[in-house]
Formats: sequence, C-alpha cells, structure tokens
Amino acid sequence: MNHWKWLAVLALGLSGLVWAADLPQSLRGATPVSDSAAPPPMAQYPGKGKALPRELAYQPPLIPHKPTYPITLKRNGCTGCHEPSRAAKMKATPTHPSHFDAAGELDDGYYFCKQCHVPQQTVATAAN
Ligand code: HEC
Ligand code: HEC
Repeated sequence: MNHWKWLAVLALGLSGLVWAADLPQSLRGATPVSDSAAPPPMAQYPGKGKALPRELAYQPPLIPHKPTYPITLKRNGCTGCHEPSRAAKMKATPTHPSHFDAAGELDDGYYFCKQCHVPQQTVATAAN
C-alpha cells in the first residue's frame, strides 16, 4: 500500500471517532444491559381538558382528556359525551358530521375513535 492509501485509511478512522462521539443515547440511559432500567413514568392525563390547537387542516383533533373510556363491541364510552344529541349538555364538541352515514348512524369505520384521535401528554424518558 502506498502512503496516500495509508493517509486515506487514517482519515477515515479519525472521522469514525468523531462520529462515535455523536452516537445517539440509548433510551435505557446509562443503565448497563445486564440491569433493568426503571420504566418511564406513566402518562397522567387530565380528567377534563380544553380543545388543543390543530397543526394542519383535517387533522383528527387530539384528545385533551383521559383516553380510558371503554370502546367495546357493545358500548362506546366516547359517544356518551360526543354524540351530537348529548354533546351540548356534556359541554363537548359533537362528533364530526363526516363520521355518520346517510341514516345518521355512526359509520362503522369511525367506531374505534382512538384509531385516529390520540391523547397528548409530555412524558420524560430516561434519555431526556
Ligand atoms: C365525560 C364526557 C366525555 C367523554 C366520555 C369523552 N369526552 Fe372527549 N371531550 C369532552 C370535553 C368536555 C372536551 C373538551 C371540549 C371540546 O373541545 O370538545 C372533549 C374534547 C375531545 C376532543 C377534542 C375536540 C376538538 O375539537 O379539539 C376529542 C378529539 C375527544 N374529546 C375525543 C374523545 C374520545 C376519543 C373519547 C373516548 C375515548 C372521549 N372524547 C370521551 C368530554 C368527553
Ligand atoms: C378514521 C379516522 C377517525 C375516526 C375513527 C374517528 N375520527 Fe373523529 N375526526 C377525524 C378527523 C379527520 C376529524 C377532523 C375533521 C375535519 O376537521 O374536517 C375528526 C373530528 C372529530 C371531532 C371534532 C369535530 C369538530 O367539529 O371540530 C370530534 C369531536 C370527533 N372527531 C370525535 C370522534 C369520536 C367520538 C369518534 C369515535 C366514535 C371518532 N371521532 C372517530 C377522524 C376520525
């Protein structure tokens, strides 16, 4: 190998060192692989909340309150407050008209609300 090639190899090696210093930190923080890292705190959602700003047109609005109302085959806990007939009384925004079929029934494709609407909470991880 002539010395130019050695120089190239050296340069590559050094740039690798610089790159290694910028490596992203693991989510487990400084905990060694042989130990279990403490889990991050569970998200705490407010029982009630005010509508959060939307970032883009047609965005499914974020859920500003706890998302644990049950959605089962027989019962949808979200409609209890967001069904248009009850919304005003519950001080909640009525479910969007696009979610209903021509007969005024909730479209099956919109039944699982949390497929599109997600709660929002800032949760610290071990790395931040
Ligand atoms: C106890 C009544 C209640 C229940 C049950 C409920 N909500 Fe809400 N929801 C509210 C209220 C009050 C607000 C705040 C006012 C508003 O913006 O609608 C709200 C806000 C929202 C918003 C924001 C609306 C917007 O325009 O920004 C979404 C999305 C939402 N809820 C989805 C859900 C989903 C999904 C469920 C089921 C997991 C659910 N809600 C269950 C009362 C309720
Ligand atoms: C397939 C995705 C999807 C599902 C499932 C869904 N939504 Fe939505 N929802 C949207 C989108 C997208 C919008 C925003 C519509 C817009 O701004 O034109 C919206 C808007 C809303 C709004 C705000 C209405 C307004 O006038 O500002 C409420 C409340 C809401 N949905 C409740 C619900 C509830 C309750 C369920 C379950 C029964 C549900 N959504 C299921 C996509 C969905």
